[in-house]
Amino acid sequence: MTIRAPRPDDVVAYSEAVRRSAEHIGRWNPIEPDALPELLERQGPGLRTFLIVDEATGGLVGKCNVANIVMGRFCNGALGYDSYLPFAGTGMMSEGMLLVLDQCFTPAHQGGLGLHRLEINVQPDNERSIAMARRLGFRHEGFTPRMLFLDGGWRDHERFALTIEDWKPAERR
Ligand SMILES: CC(C)(COP(=O)(O)OP(=O)(O)OC[C@H]1O[C@@H](n2cnc3c(N)ncnc32)[C@H](O)[C@@H]1OP(=O)(O)O)[C@@H](O)C(=O)NCCC(=O)NCCS
Repeated sequence: MTIRAPRPDDVVAYSEAVRRSAEHIGRWNPIEPDALPELLERQGPGLRTFLIVDEATGGLVGKCNVANIVMGRFCNGALGYDSYLPFAGTGMMSEGMLLVLDQCFTPAHQGGLGLHRLEINVQPDNERSIAMARRLGFRHEGFTPRMLFLDGGWRDHERFALTIEDWKPAERR
């Protein structure tokens, strides 16, 4: 497994991965197979996207957006993620997310994002995503009513978070 920033030459593979995974993603996140060019344009200090890639085949395992990045005294970002078939449910997404977290918590002067806290906001009945948050060591912080506009309505979310003090980096796992 490896993680890297998305590139213009990922557009076709990304589109195919999202299309074949539409059923599995669609209940929870918008299906946007043609969204990679716009996502590439939006990359900046407030948004960093990582693709999780199967090194053996180059296949796209999943995508993780680190969004709403605020530095200063907060150093916080919110994670949003999707896994893609045929890799979904194999444990590879979880392995890739550990690498994303390493990158988020690595200091900026060492090439990371230099964050202190990460959030995952999940709809209460999204069991697979809640399992992912817990597997990654996030703690349940609370409940945020009507937090995000998804699928035609404002959806309640459970809020999970992890701060660097509770993070076990790669060399200690
Ligand atoms: C949420 C989501 C990203 C989770 O991804 P995933 O594909 O389930 O991730 P993984 O394959 O790493 O999941 C682990 C599963 O593999 C199994 N597994 C096998 N080997 C494993 C290993 N070495 N390590 C971890 N898990 C392993 C686990 O038991 C687990 O199965 P279970 O959930 O039935 O217990 C995915 O379900 C998804 O894209 N959902 C739709 C979009 C979405 O909800 N996004 C999040 C919105 S908040």
